[in-house]
Order: sequence, then structure tokens, then C-alpha cells
Amino acid sequence: MNHLVAPSLLAADFANLQRDIEMVNRSQADWFHLDIMDGVFVPNISFGMPVIKAISRHATKPLDVHLMIVDPDRYLETFHALGAAVITAHYEACTHLHRTIQKIRSLGIKAGVVLNPHTPVTVLEDILTEVDMVLIMSVNPGFGAQSFIENSYTKIRRLKQMILAKHAKVLIEVDGGVDLSNAAKLVEAGVDVLVAGNTVFSSKDPIHTISRLKQLL
Ligand code: DX5
Ligand code: ZN
Repeated sequence: MNHLVAPSLLAADFANLQRDIEMVNRSQADWFHLDIMDGVFVPNISFGMPVIKAISRHATKPLDVHLMIVDPDRYLETFHALGAAVITAHYEACTHLHRTIQKIRSLGIKAGVVLNPHTPVTVLEDILTEVDMVLIMSVNPGFGAQSFIENSYTKIRRLKQMILAKHAKVLIEVDGGVDLSNAAKLVEAGVDVLVAGNTVFSSKDPIHTISRLKQLL
């Protein structure tokens, strides 16, 4: 499968959100990545329901909703109703992860689990065949524009091995510090979905940057 590119709107200009959404619509990007932070699970608050509703009115590509919140089960139906095509919840925030994954899938959308940098991929051994995607955090969640954690390559390779060994159909997504210097190496390690915030929105020509992340040039 060719890898996907998911620009993270956390790095967009919130005063010109419609303009930035339309830029992503016109670009070669595949998904919109939406970061939902509650100020409890992570030390930052991003945006909530009214903003997601406004985004979904303009976005013409699937919404990939990354929940950095405690007790995500409370809001799964709401995020689905707001237009999420993919919902990822943190392993570290789910006491009953299996139930959370089942709930997301019962809504008819893709279910993913997210691992913080310190959480080993081996904790997914008994849930891997039940998920559609694993998101490997390559920074500590909470903020954009942080430096990529190099150990992420090892985690991605290990996870890819686990997926192959189980003949599972699971996408690997990577999020945090993704740029033009590491994108190709990440895809080579096994990544299917590249999330990029700062790299896209701080560049002079975001459409061109997205196409470079897509072509790996
Ligand atoms: C961090 C978020 C990321 C963030 C990535 O907690 O999950 O999606 O927007 O931003 P960059 O690509 O700038 O590291
Ligand atoms: Zn994210």
C-alpha cells in the first residue's frame, strides 16, 4: 500500500481555518488529523466539538481524530456524529481498551490505539488483530513542533514484525516531529500514515510540502 499523509490541523492558522482546510482539500493529503486535548491526559487544551463540527463542514477528506483525553469512551458517539472516520484512543487512557476498540468499530469507523513514547509495542500482543491502526507517538503528546524521538524507528520495526507475524491488517501511523528528513526512513520502517503539523503549516508552500511527503522527495 502507498503511504498516506495526514496534515495535523493543530498547526493550522485558527483564524484562517477554512482557508487552511481548503488548502488540504486541494492538496495530495489523504486525511485530516485532528488533535483533541483535554488538559488532563496531556498538559494542553486544543479544541473541541464546535470546532470539529466547523471543520467537518469544509473538509472533503476523512477526519482522523486523535483523542488525548481521559475516559475517551464518554465521547466516542459524539466524535462519530461529528464526522470522524477514524478514532484513535491512547492505550494509557483506557482501562478497558478492548471495550473501547469494540465500541469504535460498532460505529462503523476505523479504530486505532495510540502508544506514548515510553509504552512498548508488546502491550498490544493480545489486541493487535482487533484494531485497524496503531499510532506510534514519536513525541510526548500535547504540543506540536517538538523533536522526533529516534527510538520510534525501533518501535515501528518491531510493531511491523508483530503485524506480519499475525497476518493482521493493521495500519501503522506515526505522529510527532515528522519532516522531510525522516519521512522516507519512517515509511521504509513500516509506516502507512505520516502525520505532519509544523512541517506542513510552517512551510512556505504547504501544498508542495504535502506532495513531497507523499512522493518522499
Ligand atoms: C502532538 C499531536 C500531533 C502534533 C504533531 O500531541 O498529537 O498530532 O500536531 O505536530 P508536529 O508534526 O508539528 O510534531
Ligand atoms: Zn496527533
